[in-house]
Amino acid sequence: MSAEATAPGKIILFGEHSVVYKGPAILLAVDRRATVTASRRDDKRIYIDSEDLGFSGYFDDGEYTAVTGKEWRGRNMMALAVATRKVMAHLGVDAGVNLKVRSMIPIAVGLGSSAAVCVATTAAVGELFDGNLTKEKISELSFEGEKVIHGNPSGADNSIATYGGIMRYERGEGLKRLRLENALPFVIGNTRRKRSTRNMVEGVKVLKDRNPEVVDPIIYTMAGLSQTGLDALLRGDKHKLGDLMNINHGLLSAIGVSTIELDDLVYAARQEGALGAKLTGAGGGGCMIALAEEENLSNIEKSIRASRGQSMRVNVTDEGVKTRKIENGDS
Ligand code: MEV
Repeated sequence: MSAEATAPGKIILFGEHSVVYKGPAILLAVDRRATVTASRRDDKRIYIDSEDLGFSGYFDDGEYTAVTGKEWRGRNMMALAVATRKVMAHLGVDAGVNLKVRSMIPIAVGLGSSAAVCVATTAAVGELFDGNLTKEKISELSFEGEKVIHGNPSGADNSIATYGGIMRYERGEGLKRLRLENALPFVIGNTRRKRSTRNMVEGVKVLKDRNPEVVDPIIYTMAGLSQTGLDALLRGDKHKLGDLMNINHGLLSAIGVSTIELDDLVYAARQEGALGAKLTGAGGGGCMIALAEEENLSNIEKSIRASRGQSMRVNVTDEGVKTRKIENGDS
C-alpha cells in the first residue's frame, strides 16, 4: 500500500517580496500540479526519487547520498526529508519511506514548484501513516521544509499550495480565501532562467539594510498597492488591476529583482495590448504574468515567444492539496 498527494503551483498577482516584511500578497493557484507517492520501506531511510526534478538519493540520519542528480539539489532534497521527518514525529512514527516525486510545474521559475512538492510530500506521508492531517497541519509542517529551501519564506507559497483557489495571505494574520465572479485570463511568460528564491529574498534584505530610508517606503507602497489590488480584483475592475500590475513591476524593478529578460517579456506583452504585466514570484529570472482581454491573449503569447520566452496559459484552480491511498495493483 502507498499514498499519493498532489498540490498546485501558483502565481503571485501582488505582494511578492513586500509580503516578507509587510502587508498582504494576493495569490492564485494554477492548474499545474506536483504529485508525490509515498510508500513504506523495511529500513529507516528516506529515499527520494524524482526524474522531473533531476535527482534521487537517500537520507540516513540527516546525511544525504546522491544516487543520480543532474545538478546539486541537496537543499530541495533536504526539504522533503525534513517535511517527512516532521510528519512522522508529529504522528509518533519511526519508519523509512520511499518518495516518488513528479511535477508538471516548471522548477525554480517562481511558480511555486518547491512549495507544491513540499506540501504534496507532507500530505502523502501523513496519509501513508493514517495521520488524518488537517490542511492547517499540512501547511504548517510543509513550511518547515520550505524554510530549509528558502531561508526566511513568508509562508505564502505553502498556504496557496495547500488550499488552492485565490487567497489573500499576510504574515502573522494568515490567509483568507476569496471568490471571484468571473475568470481572469492570464498569460505566463517564462524566461526559463532558473534562480533561487532564497538568494533573491536575501538580496532585497541587503539592499533594504543598506538603504532603509528609500527601500522601506517602497515596501510600504507595495503592501498598500497589494490591498488596493485586492479591492480591484474583487470588483472585477480589470483596467485598475492592469495599472496596478504595471506599477508593481516598476517597484519590483526598483528593489532589484527584475532582469532584462523579464522586462523584455513584460514590454512584449504590453505592446500587444496587455492591460497589465509584471514579474511574478521572486524575480531574478523566472516568470512574468500578463492580464489581457480574451481577444489579445494569442498575440501576447506570440509576442512573448518572439522575445525568446515560453508562454503558458493557465487557469485558476480551486483544488488545493488532494490525497488518496493506493492499494497494491492500483495506479
Ligand atoms: C516567492 O514565491 C515569494 C516571495 O515573496 C518570497 C516569500 O513570500 O517567501 C519572493
